[in-house]
Amino acid sequence: MSKTTRLAIALVLGLGLLTWAAWALVHRTTQGWFEKDVRLRADLAVRGARRSLVAHWTNPSELSDVLAEITRDERIMAAAACSDTFETLARTRDYPAVFSCRQVGDLRRESRGGTHDLPGGEVHVSALPLEVDGSRLGFVVLVHDLSFLNRREATMQRFLIGAFALLAMSASALTFLATRWAFRRWSDELRSELGSQAPTRPEFRPLIGDVRALVERVVSERDAELDAGEWNPQRLKQTLQRHLHGERIIVVANREPYIHERARDGSVRVVNPASGLVTALEPVMRACSGVWVAHGSGSADRETVDVHDRVRVPPGEESYAIRRVWLSEAEEHGYYYGFANEGLWPLCHIAHTRPVFRAGDFEQYSAANRKFVDAVVSEVDSDDPIVLVQDYHLALAPKLIRERLPKATVLTFWHVPWPNAERFGICPWRKELLEGLLGSSIVGFHTQAHCNNFFDSVDRYLEARIDRELSAVVRGGHRTFVRPYPISVEWPVHWLAGLPPVARCRQNVSERFGLKGDALIGVGVDRLDYTKGVEERLLAVERLLELHPEHRGRFTFIQVAAPSRTLIERYRQLNDAVVALAQRINQRFGADGYRPVVLLHEHHQPPQVFELYRAADVVYVSSLHDGMNLVAKEFAAAREDEGGVLVLSQFTGAAQEMPEALLVNPYDVEQAATALGVALHMSIEEQRQRMRALRRHIAEFNVYRWAGRMLVDAARLRRRQRVRLAFDSTTDEAA
Ligand code: F6P
Repeated sequence: MSKTTRLAIALVLGLGLLTWAAWALVHRTTQGWFEKDVRLRADLAVRGARRSLVAHWTNPSELSDVLAEITRDERIMAAAACSDTFETLARTRDYPAVFSCRQVGDLRRESRGGTHDLPGGEVHVSALPLEVDGSRLGFVVLVHDLSFLNRREATMQRFLIGAFALLAMSASALTFLATRWAFRRWSDELRSELGSQAPTRPEFRPLIGDVRALVERVVSERDAELDAGEWNPQRLKQTLQRHLHGERIIVVANREPYIHERARDGSVRVVNPASGLVTALEPVMRACSGVWVAHGSGSADRETVDVHDRVRVPPGEESYAIRRVWLSEAEEHGYYYGFANEGLWPLCHIAHTRPVFRAGDFEQYSAANRKFVDAVVSEVDSDDPIVLVQDYHLALAPKLIRERLPKATVLTFWHVPWPNAERFGICPWRKELLEGLLGSSIVGFHTQAHCNNFFDSVDRYLEARIDRELSAVVRGGHRTFVRPYPISVEWPVHWLAGLPPVARCRQNVSERFGLKGDALIGVGVDRLDYTKGVEERLLAVERLLELHPEHRGRFTFIQVAAPSRTLIERYRQLNDAVVALAQRINQRFGADGYRPVVLLHEHHQPPQVFELYRAADVVYVSSLHDGMNLVAKEFAAAREDEGGVLVLSQFTGAAQEMPEALLVNPYDVEQAATALGVALHMSIEEQRQRMRALRRHIAEFNVYRWAGRMLVDAARLRRRQRVRLAFDSTTDEAA
């Protein structure tokens, strides 16, 4: 028998015993009351008839009449007169024979009366003495009908039980209502304490602590879940559904993913810009849908939008919208070319180009940031949207968004390195930039080192509290988390679907550039930017040919150098320097139609770029400083054959994740040239082993995981807004 069954049986027995005891008590009490009542009645009856009884005591027939008169009382059934020696003198007609005067004498000796059962119901017999002047004449015996007593008792018991039941029911209902009300009040108070920045009720503190621990546990379980398994567009979509209830995402970036350009023949063509930001975010938007707010920079952009300045993309498989922001020429000059690319870009990259800061440029930068934010605000469909702010062009936007949409979740990702505090201090608007970024809920960088530099800058130039344990900055009651999210590429790359196998790509490239069948192909793909180390790369190629004469006539380095920011003097200088260098190398080592360096001075669409990656024996990424560099990751993603070697600058964020590449210092031309030589002589088996490891890493840490982690962190923040960190909040405010 189970413990519960035993308990239930004991409960039922106990209740039964209690009811029986209550019943017996009620019965005894009512019996006592009624017997007293009967005795009193008998006394009254005999006393009332006393005179007649005495007068006719010796006359049996007269005495019978007096007795009959007494029994007119409906409760007195019968009566008899007994002599002092208990002889029957007279009695009424239906007097029960069982109560003869002699038996009454016996009863009398024991007591004045008693209750007796007669067939047909209970009776009570009272024998009352009749005295005249102190001498007793005899006894008058009265037989009372007690059946009414039973009826009365039953009625009374029914009433009592009813009253008890009503009382019990009312008490239960009252208790139930009171408990519900108290519980509701308690939970309302708890909820408001959980949501409040500064809880006032100390009794809730242990509970808030428990809730917080529970949330932490759920979060760490979720983190473990996030780390496991493969990430793809479906999983990202499901993550968005599950953690953010499928909310629409708004990306705001300077660069748009599809640019509409009017070609010379008058047709409109769609250009995919050369931008790491676009490479990473475009597949994410295809998976999540939403709106991408960006500068409409294409010559046919205005013609291709609807009345709301929107155009649906990707062309032919529309799944999200670009919302274009129009900038005047002056704005574009001051904001994009000026403050962003002559100021912040060289400030953030250690590439020895002096940053230029002009007050007019900063004004345009601020105005442009406001314009982008206006567009974001007009695109949101709730008061707490999720906005992904991208890069150094929009450092002021997070604060502006926060001012207009205080409940928004703003995730800012800084695609370039963050300089050390000393260097950052060069910027005359360092405070404004930091304050702008701290409007974000989360600021993301590629590496922990950039996060640390950001903390140091905040520490040095702002009044703020840095919570290193939580990796957050707390300022004016607002907390901004600062986290590393190493960006990546889609996996598998959708552009590969339309490309032929590796051998065919190699053949195509060889034919296009007039290479021999046994040619060795080196590839570089960049915007023509001084941070990319293109000069250093070509110098390494030159040195390789000096060191390895066997490669002369056989090794060709194809450099895609997409024109970039050409209105800036430094970029024009770079262009000239690279062209001159390529010419010099070609003059030194070129012969009979052989050109060691092929400089492709135009923008290439992704399928052309991926064809080059597939054709390459070696890809050299020589950035002098780079937040991540997605060319390195794209190259590995393109090589399903596991062939080809990656030579990678140690100054890229990618170098931390890709140790199987040949890592080099691009400034060390000798070392880089040696690495190129090693790459060109590497056995197929070693190439496979290295490439397999690189591909495994990128497959696992692809861009869907990058976006998934940020969005799940955003979801966690939204939940935490409710379960606010009760214990830190007071100190937060102080900070
Ligand atoms: O890797 C990303 C990035 O370098 C961005 O920081 C930059 O916006 C983009 O690629 C290319 O530059 P632009 O937009 O000026 O062409």
